[in-house]
Amino acid sequence: MFTFLLICTLTSLLPLGHASLPLVINTWPFKNATAAAWSALQSGGSVLDAVERGCARCEMEQCDGSVGYGGSPDESGETTLDALIMNGDTMEVGAVADLRRIKNAIGVARAVMEHTEHTLLVGESASVFAENMGFIAEDLTTNKSVNIFSEWLKGSCQPNYRKNVSPDPSKSCGPYRPKATWKQSKRARHANIHAHDTIGMIALDRDGHAAAGTSTNGLTHKVPGRVGDSPIVGAGAYVDSLAGGAAATGDGDVMMRFLPSYLAVELMRAGVDPSAACKSAISRIKRHYSEFFGAIICANTTGHYGAACNKVPGLTKFHFMVANSETNTPVLKSVDCF
Ligand SMILES: *[C@@H]1O[C@H](CO)[C@@H](O)[C@H](O)[C@H]1NC(C)=O
Ligand SMILES: *[C@@H]1O[C@H](CO)[C@@H](O)[C@H](O)[C@H]1NC(C)=O
Ligand SMILES: *[C@@H]1O[C@H](CO)[C@@H](O)[C@H](O)[C@H]1NC(C)=O
Repeated sequence: MFTFLLICTLTSLLPLGHASLPLVINTWPFKNATAAAWSALQSGGSVLDAVERGCARCEMEQCDGSVGYGGSPDESGETTLDALIMNGDTMEVGAVADLRRIKNAIGVARAVMEHTEHTLLVGESASVFAENMGFIAEDLTTNKSVNIFSEWLKGSCQPNYRKNVSPDPSKSCGPYRPKATWKQSKRARHANIHAHDTIGMIALDRDGHAAAGTSTNGLTHKVPGRVGDSPIVGAGAYVDSLAGGAAATGDGDVMMRFLPSYLAVELMRAGVDPSAACKSAISRIKRHYSEFFGAIICANTTGHYGAACNKVPGLTKFHFMVANSETNTPVLKSVDCF
């Protein structure tokens, strides 16, 4: 009898992709971010608190150099930040892009959501807003970002993201002028393959509340003013408490053209399994950009989750983190890219 009960308990837990609520899931092996979000939920915080604290943890730890201050200097050597937070109950969104001099981008995104009627603030004005809201302005430059920048200058500003400009982008630095003769070098795009490890996070609780968020410092050597997919709703992340959530990471310039997070959530709304929804969102992009670097995580309202990634050199397996009531601690998961 006891054995029978035990087997029943195990089998009820094991199949169905180990779904249970609450759930925190985030891109890349950013374990401390998962732990911070999980502990926010455990101590009675809301799903928004969980997403904010999780992403903020990555901003402080400068996860992979691709989140927070001191990473991904742009063409002028400056680090700027993009972040988004979304409330899946109310569909409110707060986001910042090209944020300067403020470390806690996800915090500013939440302030945009909670203290304005707007959705997205950008650039210098977003920084002024942040300062008025009590965020501290400080230099985001570190020795590491200075080094990345000076190495790039030494290497004739290669790789870079210009195309069809004069002077020839393979030979010298800007200022650049439009010119139809130069072709974009493929090497330039691939050289930055590890430069876009954005954190994207989804949190769901037992009462049906859901939230999602992202935070990143964008692409190394980006053209100043460049905004990626992370702060764009439906691209970097999307969540609806009645359908599920998704968050993307990778080549944002390409990915934002397809609103992959929105697509995945809509598929889950129609009953598609989270892994299949993630795969469809990646497939849609692949059709046009077979070589794009990118991955997406998906979770539906019952706590089932999945992920998918485009198989390219340098990304054959995608790692992500999960914490739910079954694991009770952050667990590293992976999916084979296709
Ligand atoms: C994660 O947190 C632990 C404990 O605070 C710390 O020792 C470790 O360095 C952190 N990991 C990263 C990658 O920052
Ligand atoms: C950064 O570099 C300066 C000199 O270039 C040095 O004095 C300082 O100690 C360095 N800081 C860190 C944190 O390594
Ligand atoms: C979530 O996905 C799982 C696995 O495909 C499925 O069994 C479950 O019914 C889905 N939940 C909802 C609410 O659609």
